[in-house]
Amino acid sequence: MVRISRRDLLGSGLALSTSSLMARTAWARTAALFSPAFPTTDPRAAGQVSAPGAIAPREQFLLDFGWKFMFGHGSDPALDLGFGKSQDDFAKTGDFKFAKAGYDDSKWRALNLPHDWAVELPFVRDDALQSHGYKPLGRRYPETSVGWYRKEFESPASDAGRRVAIEFDGAFRDVLLFVNGCFVGRNDNGYAPFRFDITDFLAVGAKNCIVARVDASFGDGWFYEGAGIYRHVWLTKTDALHLAKCESTVRPEATDGNAVNLQLAAVVVNEGKNFETSAVSWQILDAAGKTVATARASVQTVNVDGQARFEALAQLSDPALWSVEEPNLYSAIVTVETNGKPRDAERVSFGVRFLRFEAEHGFFLNEKPLKIQGTCNHQDHAGVGAAVPDRLQAFRIGVLQQMGCNAVRTSHNMPTPELVQACDRMGMMMMCETRQMSSNPEGMAQLETMIKRYRNSPSIILWSIGNEEWHLQNDMAEQGAKIAATMVQRCHELDPTRVVSAAVNGDNSKGVSEALDIIGFNYNLKFPDDYHKQHPTKPVFGSETASTITQRGVYQTDPLRNTLGAYDYPENHTEWSELAEEWWKFYGTREWLAGGFAWTGFDYRGEPTPYGWPSINSNFGIVDMCGFPKDNFFYYKAWWTKQPVLHLFPHWNWEGREGDEIPVWVHSNLDEVELLLNGKSMGRQKVPRLGHVDWKVRYEPGTITAHGWKDGKLALTEERATTGPAVALRLTAERTEIDGDGEDVAVLTVSAVDGQGRAVPTADVLVDLKVTGEGALIGVGNGDPNCQESDKEPRRSLFSGLAQAIVQATKTAGTIEIVAEVNVRRVNIEPAKITITTKQVPLRPMV
Ligand code: GAL
Repeated sequence: MVRISRRDLLGSGLALSTSSLMARTAWARTAALFSPAFPTTDPRAAGQVSAPGAIAPREQFLLDFGWKFMFGHGSDPALDLGFGKSQDDFAKTGDFKFAKAGYDDSKWRALNLPHDWAVELPFVRDDALQSHGYKPLGRRYPETSVGWYRKEFESPASDAGRRVAIEFDGAFRDVLLFVNGCFVGRNDNGYAPFRFDITDFLAVGAKNCIVARVDASFGDGWFYEGAGIYRHVWLTKTDALHLAKCESTVRPEATDGNAVNLQLAAVVVNEGKNFETSAVSWQILDAAGKTVATARASVQTVNVDGQARFEALAQLSDPALWSVEEPNLYSAIVTVETNGKPRDAERVSFGVRFLRFEAEHGFFLNEKPLKIQGTCNHQDHAGVGAAVPDRLQAFRIGVLQQMGCNAVRTSHNMPTPELVQACDRMGMMMMCETRQMSSNPEGMAQLETMIKRYRNSPSIILWSIGNEEWHLQNDMAEQGAKIAATMVQRCHELDPTRVVSAAVNGDNSKGVSEALDIIGFNYNLKFPDDYHKQHPTKPVFGSETASTITQRGVYQTDPLRNTLGAYDYPENHTEWSELAEEWWKFYGTREWLAGGFAWTGFDYRGEPTPYGWPSINSNFGIVDMCGFPKDNFFYYKAWWTKQPVLHLFPHWNWEGREGDEIPVWVHSNLDEVELLLNGKSMGRQKVPRLGHVDWKVRYEPGTITAHGWKDGKLALTEERATTGPAVALRLTAERTEIDGDGEDVAVLTVSAVDGQGRAVPTADVLVDLKVTGEGALIGVGNGDPNCQESDKEPRRSLFSGLAQAIVQATKTAGTIEIVAEVNVRRVNIEPAKITITTKQVPLRPMV
């Protein structure tokens, strides 16, 4: 295997996905270990997350339930509803029979959104599919690359005279939308939300039909992107005089005193038949729903087919600031009225906080210096792929917060609204990134949509116009500078309150970098110091760092078995990247650096670096695909939080290796750690700042114990004992009571215990799951990058002692019973059972 350095490629201006760079280290055997299940989630994560912004008289319905689905075909019209058979599909409006109410879809599969069909597909050994995780998508897989979604719904008589729109939060990727036999529109960016006004196509007082043909043959990324309608769909109904989409802004500005000025703006659109004399008012509510300020803009006439911008100023005295520790939120109810009658209204959530990036002193939140302890993340999760239920977004943020991560980067695309809402609500900062770095109409449209949609969100601290555009940094630097300048200028116009950056892999001396407000370095620790010397007035941060490669509970790197140990050894990073300790010692110790974003918080499908088949997901995560922590999690926790940390690894189940030297590590932020083997001291060591301590211990069964000392006192003790074989399964739930709303999920951990009730870190038995009652299993995972078991079948092997099951509530309150059992011949392990209660809650309006 030839080892190619990513650096060599940079110089040549060549674009190459990491997945094709195969670095393999020689040696040794595999082992598995126990890592504790994810820590208790922050209480702020609990509960359903998204309150749509509609206020009466506007109506907003969730359109996720009761869809029908079938695969189409990318090249054979006979298998694609006859679509494209002749060239006259679009000849006459109203011709599309499959999109008419009453069409026979009885053979189609019933499902609810969000839906990702890619995660349901088998893995296929084809090198061209490696970066996307070996799912058969693309033009060479026409039978699994096109999906048809169909739904019928009633339009009540009260829809007459109203504007009705169908709004997609995102779909992957090329969508053609039909309503009642008519073609309505297309969208093909994969990540940005899009909407179609379907008023003219609606049959009012009758049954209607929507059909979306989604073609995932073309992708954008070099990572798993999913396929299908993988985010929410909404049906929105407004008066013909209404607020324009994503044009209501609330911009807090500091004053000399304790009060804050709120610059308020909204745009009113008139799609009616008469001009309208309109007024816009704002009611500012605190988190408890109390009105804390009001404002009114002067009356304006809005012409037919015209629009008008309304502005006003409100003052908030002594506001509760939004911060990482206290993510206080406010909302503004924006109402447009004529002659005292409300015609449209919406709720805009916002926070009051002040941001500053300084070249000499890094980042400040509310005038206090704050290091960005960030992680980059893609958007897929175990079991569900890209179709992540809202509650799971909050779960993921909660897991990251447990290790002290205070910021996420939405690499490399615009996030789903529920992720932004979870960050707003939970105090997680965000670097919000658009997909396409281009000033072409599509690139600008994606950028504008992102900024308009999220500019009121306090969690977002900076915009990113893209990632590692090799050409625009190197051989096309002249164009790169111009493209980036156009994008940055537009960002400033739409949002003068935030700085703009990009994730640049290079020395940041030319191209895209010329236009950026603040400079982001991907990897390349050799560059920032020089850059800072030469550009002392430019703030700098690490837009992407680490790419450390480890597997949870595995302690030996073996290229023959595609395994990677979970230590922080030199072999645990790629040619172009750094170990956890390396990058954080760099970014964590230079005051002028604002901090950085490790690649990645969570493992994700695709990019199975450094290996290929049979590995199907990345090894870069600090937690695995399920959110179970790898050992590095505790390195970060030690140095990113103020909690005392003492994490001892590996496990102590090394049967057959008696007498072998086992490296034993402790991640800790205490002063000193003493290690004992079966009560005998192996020595006491001082913990170096931002480092760890380790020993080599000759294995004998029993117990290793770490004592952590702080200020001369024993502060914490942790041990790993050699366990017996697994005799029983154990099922635990992150929450045992969830909402019975058809959307909420319980995240369950399956593990195995020995005769003394101790978790067995090496258990790898296949577990069957039975779910009965008011819930359904929507996905399973175990975090093993080499496991090709289905994400959707009701069974999963434990990996290093753990597996995850995600169970979704029905809309009926009651209980869900989950039984985990082992049905492997000659293996005698007791089953486990858990009951989840689903409570009755008001359902979101839905059709
Ligand atoms: C970066 C890239 C990421 C991912 C990572 C893997 O260069 O921005 O998307 O590929 O490498 O190390």
